[in-house]
Amino acid sequence: MDILQKVEQYREEENKLKWEGTFAQYLDILRERKEVAQTAHSRVYEMIKSHGETKKNENTIYHFFENEIYGLEDTVERLVNEYFHPAAKRLDVRKRILLLMGPVSGGKSTIVTLLKRGLEQYSKTDKGAVYAIKGCPMHEDPLHLIPEYLRDDFFEEFGIRIEGSLSPLNTMRLETEYDGRIEDVLIERMFFSEDKRVGIGTFTPSDPKSQDIADLTGSIDFSTIAQYGSESDPRAYRFDGELNKANRGMMEFQEMLKLDEKFLWHLLSLTQEGNFKAGRFALISADELIVAHTNETEYRAFISNKKNEALHSRIIVMPIPYNLKVSQEEKIYEKMIRESDMAHVHIAPHALRVAAIFSVLTRLKISKKQGIDILKKMRLYDGENVEGFNSADLEELKKEFQTEGMDGIDPRYVINRISSAMIRKEVDAINALDVLRSLKEGLDQHASISKEDKEEYLNYISIARKEYDEIAKKEVQKAFVYSYEESAKTLMDNYLDNVEAFCNKHKMKDPLTGEEMSPDEKLMRSIEEQIGISENAKRAFREEILIRISAYARKGKRFDYQSHERLREAIQKKLFADLKDVVKITTSTSTPDETHLKKINEVVVRLIDEHGYNSISANELLRYVGSLLNR
Ligand SMILES: Nc1ncnc2c1ncn2[C@@H]1O[C@H](COP(=O)(O)OP(=O)(O)OP(=O)(O)O)[C@@H](O)[C@H]1O
Ligand SMILES: [Mg+2]
Repeated sequence: MDILQKVEQYREEENKLKWEGTFAQYLDILRERKEVAQTAHSRVYEMIKSHGETKKNENTIYHFFENEIYGLEDTVERLVNEYFHPAAKRLDVRKRILLLMGPVSGGKSTIVTLLKRGLEQYSKTDKGAVYAIKGCPMHEDPLHLIPEYLRDDFFEEFGIRIEGSLSPLNTMRLETEYDGRIEDVLIERMFFSEDKRVGIGTFTPSDPKSQDIADLTGSIDFSTIAQYGSESDPRAYRFDGELNKANRGMMEFQEMLKLDEKFLWHLLSLTQEGNFKAGRFALISADELIVAHTNETEYRAFISNKKNEALHSRIIVMPIPYNLKVSQEEKIYEKMIRESDMAHVHIAPHALRVAAIFSVLTRLKISKKQGIDILKKMRLYDGENVEGFNSADLEELKKEFQTEGMDGIDPRYVINRISSAMIRKEVDAINALDVLRSLKEGLDQHASISKEDKEEYLNYISIARKEYDEIAKKEVQKAFVYSYEESAKTLMDNYLDNVEAFCNKHKMKDPLTGEEMSPDEKLMRSIEEQIGISENAKRAFREEILIRISAYARKGKRFDYQSHERLREAIQKKLFADLKDVVKITTSTSTPDETHLKKINEVVVRLIDEHGYNSISANELLRYVGSLLNR
C-alpha cells in the first residue's frame, strides 16, 4: 500500500469514529455506556489500566509505561497508586496539582508526553470516548446542560454525578440558538489532540514581561465587540487559553515554579473548586488533570517561601528519581541513540553498559550495611545474584535512604559525551574505552559538578573501567573458545596418544611422514604443569590415566576429556594459556606467524558474527585484551 492510500485509509477510519447528535441522543449513549461521562482524572487512570498490568511479588507493573520509561517501576507504581487511582475515585487528591519533581533529564517530560499520547489514542477507543457540546471552544461537558435543580434526579436515573455549571457562552447559546431546549443541543464526539489543542494544553514559562494571563484564560476579541456591543458578552471573548483548551483532558505546566506568581494563582481555584475566572464572566468550570514538573532546587526555594503556602498545600509532589538499574540505563541510552542522528554509528558491545555502570554509581548512595560495597549494591539493584545477599537484603537497602537517585550523572550528559566521542574518532565505530575517556574529559566542562563530586566520579570511572576489563577478557575467551569442545578433544587425544606411547615404551608414528618418533615430552609436561604435577609424579599420573581408560573400556563407556576431573582442568588451563599467548602476539611488534594469524582471524570473525562487533571494534577489543594480558 503506498503512502497516499494509507492516508486515505486513516482518514476513513477517523471519519467512522465521528458522531454527532442531539443531547437527547447523547443520553441514550450514556444509558449504555456510563464511562463516557467520566472525569478527566478517571479517564487518565482508565487509559493507563487499559494497557494491562502484571502483579509481581507485591508490586504492579503497568504496561502502559513499560517500553518507554525504564527502571522506574516503583516510581510509576507510586504515581498510579497515590495519585491517578485515588483521583479517579474522586478522592481529594484530584483537587491537587500533580507536581513531578526530579533531577534534570530524569524522564519527567517523557512521562507527561506519554500520558498525552496515551490520552489521544484512548479518546479514539470505545471505552475512552468523550463527547462535548458542539461548537464550544472549551468542549464543554454536555451534562452541564442539566440544570442544578434536576441533578439529584439525574443521579438517581443515571448513577452519574454532575459537577460544574454551564459556561456563560453556552448559557447564552442555549437561549439564542436552542430556545432553551436542552434536549436539542447538538453534541459531538471529540478526540484529544495536542496539535489541534483539543483536551490537551501546555504552558511553558517564557519572558515574564511578554507572557500574558490571556495565554492561560483567553482574551477579549476586540474585532467582535462592536458586533455584540459589550465586553461582557461571552460571544465577544475568545476562550482559547491553555486552560480553556485543556478542559476535559490534561494540562501540563512545564517548569511550573519558574512561572510568574500571577499565573499560579489561577491554579488555586481551578484545582480546589474546579473553576477559574476569565474576563468579566462568572467562574468557568473546568475538569482537567493538572500536571507540572520542576527540579528539586526550585522546589526547595518555592516551599521555603511563606507566601507560597496556599499553593503548596494544593500540590502533590511525586519524586521522579533517576533510574538505578544498569541494564535499564543501557536501554535508555539505546533509545536516545535510536532517536538521534547517531543511529548509524556502530557502538561496540558493552560500550553503553560501562557508561551505564558509571552513571548508576554516581547516583547510588553508599550503604552502611556490613559487607556491601557500591558495586555489590549496584548488582543487587539490577536484580543480579550477589553471594551472601538475598531479596530481603535488597528491600532493606532500598529503604536505607529516603530518597536515592535524586542526583548524579544524567542520561543527557552521557549521550552528549558519546556523540562528542563519535565526532572526534572520525570512524563510525566507538567502543567502551572511547566512551569512558569522553565521560572523563567531560567532567571538566560539566558546570554543576563540585570538586568533591569530581573526585568521586573519577573514581567511579576507574571502577567502570575495571568492570570493563573483566568483561572484555571474558568476551575474547568466549570467542576463542567457540570451538572449545573440539580444541579440547584434539588436545586430549594428542596427550593420550603420547601418554600411551610413554607408558608402553613404544614409538609413535608421525601422521604425515609415517616416520617413527618418541613421545612428545614437552607437550605432556606443558599440560601437566598446569595442575602442578611434578617431574617425579608424572609417571604415576600418566599410569593412573591409562588405568582409568581401560576401566572405562571394560564397562563399555567412552572416555572423554570430561571423564577425568584433573585432566580436564589441565586441558582447560592449557587452552587458556595458549589463548593468552595468541592474543599477546597480536599486540607484539614482531609479525605473528601464519597459524596465529589464522586463529586471530577466526576469533575476529566470530566476534563479528556472534557477538555484535564490527571489524574495527573486534580488532580494537583484541588489541586491548592483548595489552591487558601483557601487563
Ligand atoms: N527512566 C527513563 N526511561 C526512559 N527514558 C528516560 C528515562 N530517564 C531519562 N530518559 C530519557 O532522557 C531524556 C531526557 O528526559 P526528559 O526530557 O523526560 O527529562 P526531564 O526530567 O523532563 O528533564 P528536564 O528537567 O531537563 O526537563 C529523554 O530522551 C528521555 O527519553
Ligand atoms: Mg523536561
